[in-house]
Amino acid sequence: MSDQPHGNLTIRTLAMPADSNPSGDIFGGWVLSQMDIAGGICSRDRVGGRTVTVSLDRMSFIQPVKIGDVLCVYTEVVGIGNTSIEIHVEAWAQGDRSHTKIKVTEAKFKFVALDDSGRPTPVSK
Ligand SMILES: CC(C)(COP(=O)(O)OP(=O)(O)OC[C@H]1O[C@@H](n2cnc3c(N)ncnc32)[C@H](O)[C@@H]1OP(=O)(O)O)[C@@H](O)C(=O)NCCC(=O)NCCS
Repeated sequence: MSDQPHGNLTIRTLAMPADSNPSGDIFGGWVLSQMDIAGGICSRDRVGGRTVTVSLDRMSFIQPVKIGDVLCVYTEVVGIGNTSIEIHVEAWAQGDRSHTKIKVTEAKFKFVALDDSGRPTPVSK
C-alpha cells in the first residue's frame, strides 16, 4: 500500500460530530460524499463545464475516520472517453495531533459532461 497520496489535493475538510454515529465513528457515506464532491470539482475543471457522476467502482474502508480528523481528498484524471472522464479519488485522514496522513479509501469515479440541455457532450482530449 502506498504511503503517499496520489493526485492533487482537492478538498480538506473537518470531520464533525454531525457526520458520525453515536459511537463517534464517521459515516462511510460522508466520506464517499466528500470524494464525489472532489471528483466533481476535478471533472468540472478538466471539462470546463457541467458534469454528473455516472458510476464508481468498488470501495472498501481501510481505516476509520474520527471526529476532529481532517479529511484530505486527492483527485487525478486517469481516463478520457467520448463524453466521460475517469477520476481516481483517494481519501486520507489526518489526526488532530499529527501531521501524518493515513489512507482511508479510494475509488475510480466516472463523470459525464453535459450540455446546457442536460445531454452528454464531448470532452476535449
Ligand atoms: C449520465 C447520463 C446523462 C448518461 O446518459 P446516457 O443516455 O446513458 O448517455 P450515453 O449512453 O450517451 O453515455 C454517456 C457516457 O456515459 C457512460 N455511461 C453511461 N451509463 C454508464 C454506466 N451505467 N456506467 C458507466 N458509464 C456509463 C457511457 O459509457 C458514455 O461514456 P463515453 O461517451 O465516454 O463513451 C444519465 O445516465 C444520467 O443522467 N444519469 C444520472 C446522473 C446523475 O444525476 N448523477 C448524480 C446522481 S444523484
